[in-house]
Amino acid sequence: MYKQMKARGEDVVGFGAGEPDFPTPERIKAAGIAAIMGDHTRYTPASGLPSLKEAACLRLKLDCGVEYTPDQIVVASGAKHNVYIALMTLCNPGDEVVILAPYWVSYSEMVQQAGAVPVIVAATEAQQFKVSAAQLEAAITENTKVVMLNSPSNPTGMVYSREELQAIADVCVRRNVYVIADEIYCNLIYDDLEFVSFASLGEDVKERTILINGVSKSYAMTGWRVGYAAANKQIAKVMGNYLSHSTSAPSTVSQYAAIEALTGTQEDIDAMRLEFQERRDHLVERMNRIEGVSCLRPQGAFYVMMNMESFIGKEMYGQMIHDDVDFAKLFLEKGKVATVPCSSFAAPGYIRWSYATSMREIDKGLDRLEQFIKNA
Ligand SMILES: Cc1ncc(COP(=O)(O)O)c(C=O)c1O
Repeated sequence: MYKQMKARGEDVVGFGAGEPDFPTPERIKAAGIAAIMGDHTRYTPASGLPSLKEAACLRLKLDCGVEYTPDQIVVASGAKHNVYIALMTLCNPGDEVVILAPYWVSYSEMVQQAGAVPVIVAATEAQQFKVSAAQLEAAITENTKVVMLNSPSNPTGMVYSREELQAIADVCVRRNVYVIADEIYCNLIYDDLEFVSFASLGEDVKERTILINGVSKSYAMTGWRVGYAAANKQIAKVMGNYLSHSTSAPSTVSQYAAIEALTGTQEDIDAMRLEFQERRDHLVERMNRIEGVSCLRPQGAFYVMMNMESFIGKEMYGQMIHDDVDFAKLFLEKGKVATVPCSSFAAPGYIRWSYATSMREIDKGLDRLEQFIKNA
């Protein structure tokens, strides 16, 4: 509906985007152009260019504190594609996959595509939206094959601490389950908070972890479609076979651009992170001053979950608000602001705002929220 309203020329403000609003840095674009002009336009090995695998190992060592060798890396068409082939590799029909929630909605869909059964374990706002090790342990059965973990998280922006991750890792090792650790937002962490990569918690943890990362979010490269996974050699090999007989590797040009992203200066991503942090501070501070709504202060990614529970069961603009979906729909219709209701992320009563948009748009959206609530 947002896109249709936009197409009709309506003045709608969008907070739904799951991607940085910055352009891809010049140095990375130049590497893509150089790859085309240098005739790097043929197939690469199905699981990616050896030099890109080395570049991924470098970043994993420097940013995540984990050592991998290139034969443990699988390059695919985005982090999402890597999650998918990891699930296809690990799951048999009927296996259970525990998803720590609130969660990115594609996880449960991909689990089902792999023939497995999603088991959602949700954390509340009082838990800062982070599932405890005890909750996880209670959800594990003899059919559990995999746990899906995402920190920093989409949609909550929350970051699991070292202690929280260690407790989860202990459960996974003891109960003999794999972990798909989606760390695509690892460079978008604020306030100098420590990023802890799940695989860095010990050799036994690393052995059962499929670490997911990529260039989309950190380097503003969502459209280039390059992500990578790191896993034990056996799993990496089977994931590579999936690629070999389905999509093959991502575009060769994109792979060359990704090498530059991972090996060149990292100053441009620092600048983006600082800008995101300023936007988060502003959005959170203003949102919490608006009557009837509130939000936690997320520590990573570029999302804020707005609590709108106080409107449930009340009428707005002559309509009964049953849930976050009703609220978001009405906010778009009457307030001309597009957000994402969080029921589908296993977080009913919340609306997700992405601050991957300019400060001006953020203020415009919040002004409209104030008016929308006041005039209801
Ligand atoms: C948690 C999470 N993982 C993966 C992705 C997808 O990343 P990519 O564009 O590299 O496929 C997203 C994008 O929204 C995401 O939020």
